[in-house]
Amino acid sequence: MNRTIIPIASGKGGVGKSFIAANLAIALAKLGKQVIVADLDFGGSNLHTCLGIHNTNPGIGDFLRARYSKLKDLLVETENENLKFLAGDVRSPFLANMHHSQKMRLINNLRQLECEYLILDLGSGSTYNTLDYFGMTQLGMIITTAEHASTVNMLTFLKLFAFRVIERSMPKNTFLDEKLRDSYNRTVMDEVLTVRGLLDEISTIDRNVAQKAEQSWIRYRPRIIINKCNLPNELDLLGSLENTFNKILMLRSDFFGCLFTDPAVSKTFKESKTLNVAAPNSDILEDINLLADRVTRLWEQPIRNSANLLQFNAKNLFEKRQK
Ligand SMILES: Nc1ncnc2c1ncn2[C@@H]1O[C@H](COP(=O)(O)OP(=O)(O)OP(=O)(O)O)[C@@H](O)[C@H]1O
Ligand SMILES: [Mg+2]
Repeated sequence: MNRTIIPIASGKGGVGKSFIAANLAIALAKLGKQVIVADLDFGGSNLHTCLGIHNTNPGIGDFLRARYSKLKDLLVETENENLKFLAGDVRSPFLANMHHSQKMRLINNLRQLECEYLILDLGSGSTYNTLDYFGMTQLGMIITTAEHASTVNMLTFLKLFAFRVIERSMPKNTFLDEKLRDSYNRTVMDEVLTVRGLLDEISTIDRNVAQKAEQSWIRYRPRIIINKCNLPNELDLLGSLENTFNKILMLRSDFFGCLFTDPAVSKTFKESKTLNVAAPNSDILEDINLLADRVTRLWEQPIRNSANLLQFNAKNLFEKRQK
């Protein structure tokens, strides 16, 4: 089976990752795709509430504590045909601090799950573990709102992700490692460390290593979703964000989707029901379905002129709803 892994991350917390993970998974399942949605927000697992499930199920925590040898034995059927749920660590706390070997075992087993879409709801922020789950594929999804704090935190997340990819591409070499740590530990008075700057510093020690690191990094192409949008002109910032990505991060990305703020979302949280049950006629359900449709058609390909295209689509949708 051709499997697409979609890790969902964000720099800032509370931007809508779990809501989008759950409801995108349901929308894809309704399109007839075989979907698994997994809760990888260790220490903050709440994906089950967005799926309308009481979480008494054993989950990844039990797998890592060796109570289960295969992740697939922990998959739970949901009310939605084609959609299975993999619980996090509600029953076994402290997994946020899991050991490197546990993480690698988890990643290997996640890759073996059979489905067409594997959606991973990650914790917010930039711990090594979260960065590594995000790096399971070159096309991860990042959620942000248009607020300054949220976009700044997204930039920080992506920068630390770049450093992590670069670090992991390098051979174990004490001198290089030291150089890398020196670069990270600059004081706030120093110039901001860009991805180019870091690669240049590595290049002064070993040009081949720097070239290899650059090749590893430029293969990534995250897909950005703007959530909790109130007015289409909030998306005016996309152009300058794109420039910053190029300049500071040497990163190509796609602005992939926009979801508007809708009071129906808090209803799903309050009632612990899925969106299609709590608010079947809501605008936000239409936004989610549009996103799922784009995922099935466009996920694997770069989107040309994605900032303008998203602004255009969001404006049309907004105006249609005003009529
Ligand atoms: N499009 C939206 N319109 C209105 N409210 C929204 C929207 N998306 C999310 N929310 C609200 O934002 C809050 C956070 O959502 P959610 O828990 O999905 O975020 P998260 O990124 O997973 O958070 P965390 O980082 O804590 O895991 C919820 O209260 C939800 O009701
Ligand atoms: Mg969450």
